[in-house]
Amino acid sequence: MSADQQTGISAARAALSGVAAEPGVAKPDPILTAAGVRRAFGGLVAVDVEHLEVQRGSITALIGPNGAGKTTFFNLLTGFDRPSRGTWDFNGRRANRMRSYQVARAGMVRTFQLTKALTRMSVMDNMLIGASSQIGERMWAGLLPPLWRQQEAANREKALELLERFKLIDKREDYAGELSGGQRKLLEMARALMLDPKMVMLDEPMAGVNPALKQSLLEHIKGLREEGMTVLFVEHDMDMVHEIADWVAVMAAGQLITEGTPDQISADRRVIDAYLGAHHDAAQR
Ligand SMILES: Nc1ncnc2c1ncn2[C@@H]1O[C@H](COP(=O)(O)OP(=O)(O)OP(=O)(O)O)[C@@H](O)[C@H]1O
Ligand SMILES: [Mg+2]
Repeated sequence: MSADQQTGISAARAALSGVAAEPGVAKPDPILTAAGVRRAFGGLVAVDVEHLEVQRGSITALIGPNGAGKTTFFNLLTGFDRPSRGTWDFNGRRANRMRSYQVARAGMVRTFQLTKALTRMSVMDNMLIGASSQIGERMWAGLLPPLWRQQEAANREKALELLERFKLIDKREDYAGELSGGQRKLLEMARALMLDPKMVMLDEPMAGVNPALKQSLLEHIKGLREEGMTVLFVEHDMDMVHEIADWVAVMAAGQLITEGTPDQISADRRVIDAYLGAHHDAAQR
């Protein structure tokens, strides 16, 4: 165990210790760099992020009041929506023109605020489809049958390992629709890992999850970081953010208004004003 692990400080947190708490600040080793990303829906500018870098290997929280543009920003970065303008690089590659399956293949996978588990399909099939859906059916169709079977056997083995790890193994033949809300969140995270991502984007992974499962989700997220993955997650609960985030980026009305360590962000007047200004329920903390 390293000295940092003993003191409970992650390597990512240590790497970010000299970084100023300013919106758009450069990071020592960014895996994601976004520049001038804007998305308008008619007259509404949902996202207008001038510059954002996400440190490789960090758990970064994206917070902001309802309607701040967090989900829209995720949709853009993961190729599920197109920006009005802007560019971003992921892991050294220009990614703003990639389609969602190309983004996934490049190593960035996401989960959805409203879980997209296919309820009339078994938990196992959801896992196997996770491997193919984000990559794109076309690629599967192009594989020769023996290769395909080999790949499928490997996928099954991997799915079983992940279901074991996420404590869903006993549910593998159940319909996903029979799972609790929290278990579905776990399934979505497990499914995302079928693709061996470098970066995992989680949109409110803890929403609607009971406290016991929440704790286990937190541990899973920390586990991703321990395995070297980068995590960007949207969360409203500042206690959760404090518990796991190395860094926090704050959006309001489409813009990145500030970023910093959880302690810096909690003390930032702009953040408090942004939440109050949006009539957000400040008591939910
Ligand atoms: N497809 C769309 N068409 C029109 N407006 C949209 C669309 N998607 C999002 N918006 C608007 O863009 C703004 C940002 O929405 P978004 O869902 O990204 O916010 P959010 O920060 O994820 O909020 P929440 O915390 O409630 O999930 C909102 O005003 C929303 O109504
Ligand atoms: Mg959202």
